[in-house]
Formats: sequence, structure tokens, C-alpha cells
Amino acid sequence: MPPEFPAKVAIVGAGYVGASTAFALLFTPLVKEIVLVDINHARAEGEAMDLAHAATLIRPVKIYAGHASDCAGARIVIFTAGANQRPGETRLELVHRNAAIVKEALPPLLPYCPDALILMVANPVDVLTYVAWKLSGLPENKVLGSGTVLDSARFRHLLSRHLHVDPRNIHAYVIGEHGDTEVPVWSLANVAGIDLADFYLLDGTTEENALREEMSRRVREAAYAIIERKGATAYGVALALSRITESIIRDEKAVLTVSSVIRNLYGIEGEVALSLPCIVGSSGREKILAIPLGSEELAALQHSAVTLQETIAGLNL
Ligand code: LAC
Repeated sequence: MPPEFPAKVAIVGAGYVGASTAFALLFTPLVKEIVLVDINHARAEGEAMDLAHAATLIRPVKIYAGHASDCAGARIVIFTAGANQRPGETRLELVHRNAAIVKEALPPLLPYCPDALILMVANPVDVLTYVAWKLSGLPENKVLGSGTVLDSARFRHLLSRHLHVDPRNIHAYVIGEHGDTEVPVWSLANVAGIDLADFYLLDGTTEENALREEMSRRVREAAYAIIERKGATAYGVALALSRITESIIRDEKAVLTVSSVIRNLYGIEGEVALSLPCIVGSSGREKILAIPLGSEELAALQHSAVTLQETIAGLNL
């Protein structure tokens, strides 16, 4: 589909994540219309009213609460509806509740927007990306999950704080599950193309032992730390979604670690949805960048894939 903007976006689920995402999208000039669909229609109406007032102070964006038929013409359906993790709960523990919500809420709206891309957000996002792909019958490139875009941002944030470098000059990816088995790819992390060991040399410092383990843990547990303190995460994922949306609508071809269905990669047998760096443009996932991995990273990615496949198998799709 040719890039077309400003575009219409449908957001399913008007909870913290859905509403924050709509708010984040107001700050891009790429969206002219946002429909919020929620089983609690009054909640969607309330958020839409509040957001519409906010939009007045930025640019005229049409924001309203709607139903399945109001998704007609949407370029992207962002699916956030679902239960949140409670403190200490893993994302995978949400699977049965949230797969049921996807099965109920997604198929009725797809006939209204056959050209839309699906952007799954609800957790466990990789499993639900796979469920959405199966249910929709869409090609693999058109069903994305927010995946580890946020984890990669968290990784870059920690590296940025540690190295005293703008995170925009740090390239570092987290791949695999958006969850407990995720894999930070230390072997490729770099500052402006300079690998970390060389960067330390330039800086006249050396990396402290145990730093990598500690940072990996903090990235992996970031959502738990936030949920323990404020009950839910929202702004990070909202901006990750806005970033993915921008790259689709403007056909930017940004490299983003979205989740999508893969097969025959990295010795992973069968199908699974997980995150790898991908070129994201107007047709969705345009290319998977099969980056070289160290042997431990490869084993960890394969473990992540098997964990997700076992969870998918438990769903009787
Ligand atoms: C997080 C949620 C989106 O990591 O899973 O913040």
C-alpha cells in the first residue's frame, strides 16, 4: 500500500496503554483520526473527550469512541485490550485471559479494515501476535507486535546513563521474547559504530565485571520494577508504539525490534512470533535482519523461541 498520511488509527482497549498511546500519537503530525474501541464504551468516551481537548492545543485530530464498524479506513489497528500484570506476575501468566480477549475482540473488526496492519501490544505480546496472525489470516508482514522495541529502549537508556552518551547514538538490541527469556545482544552493542570494548578504551576506562549481567537483569525486570511501584507501565510502551506507527505511516524503514512470525531462522524449528531487528515500513515488517549472534546469545534466543512455542501449544489454536 502506498504511504498515505495523515492516517487513521484504531486503538482497541482504552486502558492506561491505549489512552497513553493515543496521547503519544497526538505529538506526531501523522495521524488525523483516532478511534478508541473498548468493551467499556463509557471509558473510551471519557478518554476520547479528554484527548480531544488535548488535541485542540496541538493540531486538529479527530478522536472518538467507537465500535467495530468505526475501524473502517484504519491504517493500523493497535490492540492493547487485556489484563495487566499484577505485581510479581509474569507476562506469560496472562496468556489464557488475554488470548480469549483477542479471540473475542479482534475478528469482528477486521472485515471493516481489510487493509489495516495489526499492531499487537497486549501481553504476552509475542504469543498474542501469533494468535492475531492466525486469526486474521493476514500475511506475516502485516501482523506486528510491539515486541522488544521498549526493551531495546530500556537497554539503550541504561547504556546511555552508564557511558554518558546520548541514547540516540547507541545501537543496542534486545531480541526474543518480550519477557523473562529476552536476549540483550551485547555482542553487537555499539556507540556510533564503535564496539563497547573499543569505546571503553577511547574513554580510558574498562568495563566492570558483572556490569553486563546487572544491566541485562535491570532491562528484563524493568516492567516488574515499575508495576511494583505504580501498578502498570504505559508511557514507554506508548512511545514505542508511536515510533512503530510513525515508521509504518511515513514508510521510514526504521530498524525496530518488533515481534513477528518467523520460521527457519537461527535453527528454530517450526513457527513462532518473537522479536528480531526488522525494517519497518509502509507494508509492515519489510525485512528481518538476521544479525550474527554469539553462541550464548543464539542458545538464549532458541530457548526464548521454545518457551514461546510451548505457550502457544497450550492454547489449542
Ligand atoms: C512493559 C509492558 C508493556 O514492558 O510489557 O512495560
